[in-house]
Amino acid sequence: MSSLKTASIRTLDKNGREITTVGFERFGFDSEVSLDALRSLYLRPHYVTVASKGDGEDDIQQLEQHAKFTKDAAAYQSKSIYHSDSHSISYTTLSRFPPVKLLPPSNRKRVLVTGGAGFVGSHLVDRLMLLGHEVTVLDNFFTGSKTTVSHWVGHPNFELVRHDVVEPFMIECDQIYHLACPASPPHYQFNAVKTVKTSFMGTYNMLGLAKRTKARFLISSTSEVYGDPEVHPQPEDYWGHVNPIGPRACYDEGKRVAETLTYGYHRQDGVDVRVARIFNTYGPRMNPFDGRVVSNFIVQALRGEDMTVYGDGKQTRSFQYIHDLVDGLIALMNSDETRPVNIGNSDEFTIGEFAELVREIVEKVQKEDGDLPTRRVQIVYKPIPTDDPQKRRPDTTRAKTSLGWQPKWTVRMGLEEMVRYYKAKMLEGSL
Ligand SMILES: NC(=O)c1ccc[n+]([C@@H]2O[C@H](COP(=O)([O-])OP(=O)(O)OC[C@H]3O[C@@H](n4cnc5c(N)ncnc54)[C@H](O)[C@@H]3O)[C@@H](O)[C@H]2O)c1
Repeated sequence: MSSLKTASIRTLDKNGREITTVGFERFGFDSEVSLDALRSLYLRPHYVTVASKGDGEDDIQQLEQHAKFTKDAAAYQSKSIYHSDSHSISYTTLSRFPPVKLLPPSNRKRVLVTGGAGFVGSHLVDRLMLLGHEVTVLDNFFTGSKTTVSHWVGHPNFELVRHDVVEPFMIECDQIYHLACPASPPHYQFNAVKTVKTSFMGTYNMLGLAKRTKARFLISSTSEVYGDPEVHPQPEDYWGHVNPIGPRACYDEGKRVAETLTYGYHRQDGVDVRVARIFNTYGPRMNPFDGRVVSNFIVQALRGEDMTVYGDGKQTRSFQYIHDLVDGLIALMNSDETRPVNIGNSDEFTIGEFAELVREIVEKVQKEDGDLPTRRVQIVYKPIPTDDPQKRRPDTTRAKTSLGWQPKWTVRMGLEEMVRYYKAKMLEGSL
């Protein structure tokens, strides 16, 4: 099965050096883990595909397939089985968890991650868990899914709580990563009032918790606070150009008021706060159907469908890979920087160029796997939605000088991993 090749990807950084780990030791907090350990959590299929024949040979075949899929990580992979005849799956729990660092109590943090079952949250949780911290995920599963963190359920350092952040929540903790908020336009526009409520009430509740426990509080804000910017690239002291009543306002203004609230608690009550303004991020576990450009393009190209560009394709975007974002969030949390910090990749592409790059990488992966498509996918242009910003690119000087952080992953490298992730999901039948 071609998804087996995922284990052998070589990932090179901008200087052509192989990336084998993510993270670094900074501000007294070691965030380094091996890329293979992380990949074993998101890139390898987590079940075997043996049709049940009921002749007793299944068990042996399943074990063989399982060993092939999981390679060195076999001891801590689930052995769930996909039955292609009935298109059903029998789940098992993990036989053993991936090894996590053994930290002395003085270094081990009790970390609350709201929205921890979402795309960004689940990668942050994987990293914090592998690093040996105690992690509690708080999520209402509006856009997130239990499956993104199910590989940790039952681990003594891990807790998963179904809870809506618009309601107060009490827990003892040292650090709060407050990520809970739908992030893609179809999701945050699905119920605009709820999005504003989540942004305001959720942040209010988590800041109250931070005040009571004296935990450090980090909010995942967004480049959307800059709206359709008149300044390019956007530094943190640019105040933005936001339409307060348009269809995106529930998210953009929601995040702006969440930042206001954060600095209110900081000034009035001395809450220790961090504000990350995250720019477009992509990576495995992104919902493929939520209309974000990267997943749209990859899924369309992998399915052999035409790729849709909204507008003339000349609007520009910058894309950062998930591991760079997690590095940045952890560095910010553990630094002394209380001002907002842009975290993003400043390599800029027009959407048209980006579509071509995705097509090229999909074709490369298909060629390597010997799955050549019958026809080349085309790139088609459609009308642009309201309020879609024309230009967006971070000025990351502050992150560089204050956190010593800069992105390591090229868009090409991240895309290749992402293409392989979606391709494996398609082969599994789960996409
Ligand atoms: N992904 C990006 O490119 C990006 C860019 C800028 C900012 N951000 C921010 O990062 C955070 C995470 O984004 P993501 O891409 O992982 O999105 P996501 O939708 O995958 O994750 C959000 C998580 O929050 C949960 N959630 C939503 N409302 C909730 C509520 N009321 N109570 C409890 N849980 C709730 C969802 O179920 C989900 O698990 C968001 O705050 C988003 O605004 C993301």
